[in-house]
Amino acid sequence: MILNNSFLSLFALVSTLSTVLAFPSYGSLAGLSEREIDHLVARLPQVLPPNPPGPLKFNGTKLVNDPAHPWKPLRKGDIRGPCPGLNTLASHGYLPRDGVATPAQIVQAVQEGFNMDSGTARFVTYAAHLVDGNLVTDLLSIGGKTRKTGQDTGPPAIIGGLNTHAVFEGDASMTRGDDFFGDNHSFNQTLFDQFVDYSNRFGGGFYNLTVAAELRHQRIQESIATNPKFDFTSPRFFTAYAESTFPYTFFVDGRITNRTTAGLDMTNATLFFRDSKFPADFWRPPAPTGPAGIIDIFLAYPIAAGRNVGEVNTYTPDPTSADFNNFCLLYTNFVNQTVKGLYPNPKGVLRRNLILNLGFFYDGIDGAGCTELFPYGQL
Ligand code: HEM
Ligand SMILES: *[C@@H]1O[C@H](CO)[C@@H](O)[C@H](O)[C@H]1NC(C)=O
Ligand SMILES: *[C@@H]1O[C@H](CO)[C@@H](O)[C@H](O)[C@H]1NC(C)=O
Ligand SMILES: *[C@@H]1O[C@H](CO)[C@@H](O)[C@H](O)[C@H]1NC(C)=O
Ligand SMILES: *[C@@H]1O[C@H](CO)[C@@H](O)[C@H](O)[C@H]1NC(C)=O
Ligand SMILES: *[C@@H]1O[C@H](CO)[C@@H](O)[C@H](O)[C@H]1NC(C)=O
Ligand SMILES: *[C@@H]1O[C@H](CO)[C@@H](O)[C@H](O)[C@H]1NC(C)=O
Ligand SMILES: *[C@@H]1O[C@H](CO)[C@@H](O)[C@H](O)[C@H]1NC(C)=O
Repeated sequence: MILNNSFLSLFALVSTLSTVLAFPSYGSLAGLSEREIDHLVARLPQVLPPNPPGPLKFNGTKLVNDPAHPWKPLRKGDIRGPCPGLNTLASHGYLPRDGVATPAQIVQAVQEGFNMDSGTARFVTYAAHLVDGNLVTDLLSIGGKTRKTGQDTGPPAIIGGLNTHAVFEGDASMTRGDDFFGDNHSFNQTLFDQFVDYSNRFGGGFYNLTVAAELRHQRIQESIATNPKFDFTSPRFFTAYAESTFPYTFFVDGRITNRTTAGLDMTNATLFFRDSKFPADFWRPPAPTGPAGIIDIFLAYPIAAGRNVGEVNTYTPDPTSADFNNFCLLYTNFVNQTVKGLYPNPKGVLRRNLILNLGFFYDGIDGAGCTELFPYGQL
């Protein structure tokens, strides 16, 4: 009996310890059961998320690959993910080099390093944090997801990091494969070769807006033809087009004024996409910028938001998805369906932080005239 009891208590202690130790403080709680959440929340540092930083005081161009922000190679355990922008900021120390950051740090870094405008920075960052971050510790991994506590085999659980498929990360990326093919976040040389090929064919060796439109169309057609699980509904519908604008908006030197037409050269593209590295003497854009030209890319080959329905070449429009005609539906569905679906019944600090982060998220599109939603009430 005594033996049994101590064995049980040892087992209980070990399993508690392993739960706490195995669960990184940046893992998302989304998709966990209420019991698991209660168990973890009590043991995680409970952070009150600060207000995000506002717009830059000096918002012009400047050298950002400076001596204070040297590129450094990855150390063991450093995390990188599907976003070449955030990867680069981490590898230059604008974000913590381990790849785990607070949303406020991300908002600050994308403004400081790339002059992303404050509204876009906040909207994108808090969208990602709400679905992929840890809302108790206020930390987000820019890559790696972890398995559900105690789950070492079987399908991966939806538990954190920007690699997490479907809620933010999505299909038909330019240089990353679709999740269906097994790796949703790593740089893929074959896809990058196509990026170069398209830049040669349509941009004279530079990735400009014309190339962006052609390659976006090509990647969508490839996914329709090869990925039975291809999903191109909101929010991916928006992020795919937005990300197609980023190389010519953010990766071209800020001293060049016609960046959309002149475009990004392939040597510098390789540095950003493959090596998470600013070119030598890189200056950020001359003014706060968002996804410039996004509608032009869409209008070159308009397609309804939709998905393949279990087989290749079965692309079916989904009229319930948000699209460019209904931007507020992006916000509404994201809050009311995606976030609410991940966190149906949050309590305590988790509920408080959901409310705060939903507020920061809404503030990013304050001017868009969408009705603010409060699925968890107000504080
Ligand atoms: C503001 C916070 C940001 C977050 C949370 C974020 C997150 C992401 C994620 C999750 C993806 C992967 C999409 C996918 O493959 O499904 C992505 C892609 C991308 N991001 Fe970011 N990003 C941010 C800011 C930026 C910035 C500032 C830049 C440029 C300087 C940038 C450039 C890109 C590009 C070019 C891609 C497309 C990669 C490809 O299609 O191969 N992002 N981002
Ligand atoms: C950039 O800074 C200037 C000077 O402070 C300001 O007038 C302007 O509104 C800022 N631009 C943006 C887009 O914030
Ligand atoms: C994403 O990629 C990783 C690494 O290849 C893989 O283990 C994981 O199953 C993929 N899917 C999801 C849903 O993250
Ligand atoms: C890269 O993408 C190509 C084309 O989609 C695919 O055939 C290949 O398997 C991918 N490579 C890796 C290493 O995932
Ligand atoms: C992109 O570059 C190509 C080749 O120089 C050019 O024909 C095209 O007009 C450029 N696109 C834009 C939008 O300027
Ligand atoms: C961009 O501007 C530069 C400098 O004014 C000029 O030499 C170049 O031809 C322009 N490129 C395009 C594609 O408009
Ligand atoms: C690459 O980036 C650097 C730094 O921004 C810039 O000076 C250089 O002109 C770019 N290279 C090409 C070929 O455009
Ligand atoms: C959000 O969801 C709630 C409860 O499911 C529903 O009552 C409300 O009408 C929804 N709001 C919008 C704007 O869709």
